[in-house]
Amino acid sequence: MKFIVIGDIFARPGREAVARHLPGQREKYAPDFVIANADNASHGLGVNAATVRELYGYGLDLLTGGDHVWDQKDLMTHLDRSPWVLRPLNYPVGTPGKGFHILETPDKRRLLVIHALGRIFIDKLCDNPFAAIEKLLSGYDLGTNISGILVDFHAEASSEKNALGQFLNGKISALLGTHTHIPTSDARILSQGTAYITDLGMTGDYDSVIGVDKETPIANFRTGLKLNKFTPANNEATLCAAFIETDDATGLAVKIETIRLGGIMCGMIGQI
Ligand SMILES: [Fe+2]
Ligand SMILES: [Fe+2]
Repeated sequence: MKFIVIGDIFARPGREAVARHLPGQREKYAPDFVIANADNASHGLGVNAATVRELYGYGLDLLTGGDHVWDQKDLMTHLDRSPWVLRPLNYPVGTPGKGFHILETPDKRRLLVIHALGRIFIDKLCDNPFAAIEKLLSGYDLGTNISGILVDFHAEASSEKNALGQFLNGKISALLGTHTHIPTSDARILSQGTAYITDLGMTGDYDSVIGVDKETPIANFRTGLKLNKFTPANNEATLCAAFIETDDATGLAVKIETIRLGGIMCGMIGQI
């Protein structure tokens, strides 16, 4: 199975980068699925219904959210219409939406996509992501009753992401980190066959402070005051993503390749 996962799409420049670069990547990799994190796709804050429609119009197969998934109120009524947007799995029972979804190829191979939120420096109130994923995975056996398992772990701390990747090593096809908006150069296949990267990076304008216009965050950090509202940076975005290929017999990864196209981060690291 082959799939591409796109890191946090940030505002209009990020959406434009998806529209501009995804067709060429489809030709290059022929993925079965393309999944994207859309936690900042609408003006940097969550994803509204119009943006969801726009992104699905580019041929994406599934969108994931994150800590901003509740920001756009018009999405709330659609969260239960899975598979519009996954919210993190590790919210309490009764929270709207769903934290996982199964995509199926025409020849019936199935990819389980799980979206979870970290707790370190991000959301202390959500449930333990390790326990939530372990519980869900008790119903799946990779390579037996499911062809592939992907975890989008939306978290701030590299330690928490690294620990979850190692905890799930050999039980899932890939754990790809999102949320920090800074791509890491540690894409690799772990010892038991799980593809891993701490963070895919943002699909947004890197001439910014993690996607927003520089002036306001700099002023906020200098003064300690929250002076102004953040505005998304508006120059050309870099598409940051990863391509994963798995062995259909085992569900484990045989390849992870990072993708950086357009904007100022284009081609900054190599391939594995
Ligand atoms: Fe984000
Ligand atoms: Fe986030």
